[in-house]
Amino acid sequence: AAVNDGPLKGKHILVTSGPTHEPIDPVRYIANRSSGAQGTAIARALLGLGARVTFVSGPADVAPPIGVDLVSVQTAAQMLEAVNAAQDVDAGVFAAAVADWRMATASDQKIKKDGKGLPVLEFAENPDILATVCASRGRPKLVVGFAAETQNVIENATAKRTRKGCDWIVANDVSPATGIMGGAENDVTLITDDGAEDWPRMGKDQVAQKLAQRIAEALG
Ligand code: C5P
Repeated sequence: AAVNDGPLKGKHILVTSGPTHEPIDPVRYIANRSSGAQGTAIARALLGLGARVTFVSGPADVAPPIGVDLVSVQTAAQMLEAVNAAQDVDAGVFAAAVADWRMATASDQKIKKDGKGLPVLEFAENPDILATVCASRGRPKLVVGFAAETQNVIENATAKRTRKGCDWIVANDVSPATGIMGGAENDVTLITDDGAEDWPRMGKDQVAQKLAQRIAEALG
């Protein structure tokens, strides 16, 4: 079969993935821990079902899948710009681990140890890309967010779904003991209008395939 045959043929899906890096100075940054493995697997699964995929990725550990329309970014501000630039999107999957804060002002020179005490970093809040898209005029028909939590996973994720205005949330427990962060497996709960659906622990590739299948069903 041709590469773009499948239930998502003719559909355009946006996927965000990986961390963002927020510079402190030219040599330092703050970031969330994210390998980009789950977002990359989702993009690959969507391609496999025939979708056109715009893949907006921060600096991830894993290589982007061949065949996506790749937009590589560093910061949350750049990720928002790339997301806003994507046109005629049928569904959006927001798997990126976006840094909540950036420096109010990044230093344009390396901050030096000058013996006069510790640097004080002043933060500014980053835009919430998922919430922005959900509130936008061109909101995709289906918007899927993620919620990586370390406690009260379902409660926090359910509240997040309402607050951000997305259709589904893929919730997971990323406590270090789970081995999920940076690992090959994931243990997720899909939260929709119909409630919380607990999926068994499986490979990130399998989570991706199951999610892509559900997206295909939802887009009809
Ligand atoms: O970080 P948080 O738990 O709020 O992330 C929940 C969802 O919101 C994820 O899908 C993430 O990609 C998205 N998000 C975003 N922009 C942010 C923070 C989070 O798109 N600034």
